Amino acid sequence: MSVKLRAPKGTHDLLPPDSEKYAAVEHVARRVFGSFGYGEIRTPVFESTELFSRSVGETTDIVHKEMYTFPDRKGRSLTLRPENTAGVVRALVEHGLQEMPRPIRLWYAGPQFRYEQPQAGRYREFRQIGVELLGVAGSAGDAEVLAMLFRFLEALGFTDLTATLNCIPSGAARESFSLALREHVRPKAASLGPEDARRLEENPLRLFDSKDPEVVSLLRGAPSTLEFLDEESRRHHEELKELLRQAGVRFTESAAIVRGLDYYTRTVFEVASERLGAQNAILGGGRYDGLVAHLGGPPTPAVGFAIGEDRLVSLMTTDARPERPLFWVVPDSKDELAYALAVASELRAVMPDATVESDLAGRGIGKGLSRAAQILADPGRHAQRAGGVRAVLLGSREREDGKVTIKDLATGEQETFPRTELAERFGAARER
Ligand code: HAM
Repeated sequence: MSVKLRAPKGTHDLLPPDSEKYAAVEHVARRVFGSFGYGEIRTPVFESTELFSRSVGETTDIVHKEMYTFPDRKGRSLTLRPENTAGVVRALVEHGLQEMPRPIRLWYAGPQFRYEQPQAGRYREFRQIGVELLGVAGSAGDAEVLAMLFRFLEALGFTDLTATLNCIPSGAARESFSLALREHVRPKAASLGPEDARRLEENPLRLFDSKDPEVVSLLRGAPSTLEFLDEESRRHHEELKELLRQAGVRFTESAAIVRGLDYYTRTVFEVASERLGAQNAILGGGRYDGLVAHLGGPPTPAVGFAIGEDRLVSLMTTDARPERPLFWVVPDSKDELAYALAVASELRAVMPDATVESDLAGRGIGKGLSRAAQILADPGRHAQRAGGVRAVLLGSREREDGKVTIKDLATGEQETFPRTELAERFGAARER
């Protein structure tokens, strides 16, 4: 008996029209990020394991228990990337970032891998769209990235989202904050699960990643990150808030946001939606001023974010797909097939932005038209309906006279005219 082959747990296939929604979102990303001068970077899907343990952090959930790590045939330890910031920084250091004109503005889209317990909105293979800005130390860098993020979200029809912002202490201030946090939690240490007990000892900031309700409520009364900021960080944070207000970026503040990756310094932010349920973060980001030097490059401040593309697409209520008129070319029988294919290719030449599909079975105009009616009713074909759906009916008379009969399926209007007028009629319509 043959075994049914299935996609691995936590992965999902993307078929049309869903795949087109992803492509449309990426198209908008390219347009919006490009308008701010960001260029696309593509880095390998797998990297050396050390890259992630050194950047994301040994004690984070990601490195501790969520990485797909495997030896290659020569015994080198490789890992499917759980996120893309580390890969971007590695690539820039490798390609001589010190020689590149600053600032460096990059964006990316691609699959990431985390061995998490799958549930709605949480996958083992998921897609991120991210942005990294390197070489800007001041709060104007954070502000640009956030303003661009909101421009992108608005272009996709999200007008009611709010960023939650925090500033986390770095360097010596981070040490003091960790100590204070440890002291606050230690009296309750006996009631912590093994995972949180480990966090308490190794890296108390990671307690904020805990999903244990008792830890979450314990942290509500904990010392606040903001109390531990050094003067410069505090100023950075205040300036950023002022820039965001002026740019009209909606945000609130929360000292509970520390983010689950170790590389962050100062600014951190998230955007969540209640419509996503438990896995409610659409995106997260922040500043990582120490990472480039930590990975062997020259000291370079940096800030960025990554959006969970699957979560974003699942929340979209507007259709980001471009409107494309549809021509459904129907030969009346197999005898008209060659004529139909020629008319179809002429239509494509005249209207490069249209979809021209041919009924290859040659089952006759009746069946062809009922198929066209199905297309008209299919919600997945929304973009094409918006651009108009027309049937191109080709019988023996059309073929012999060199004509086409075109029926507009929305209005029911039908017209027969010489094939040579296609360019004139539809080429002109396109330019209107
Ligand atoms: P992150 O918060 O780990 O940050 O991930 C960013 C977003 O990816 C999350 O907010 C979520 O929407 C999505 N995501 C994460 N895990 C999953 C999953 N298992 N299934 C579906 N979606 C998921 C980063 O990755 C940083 N590299 C962001 C960054 C860029 N910071 C600075 N630059």
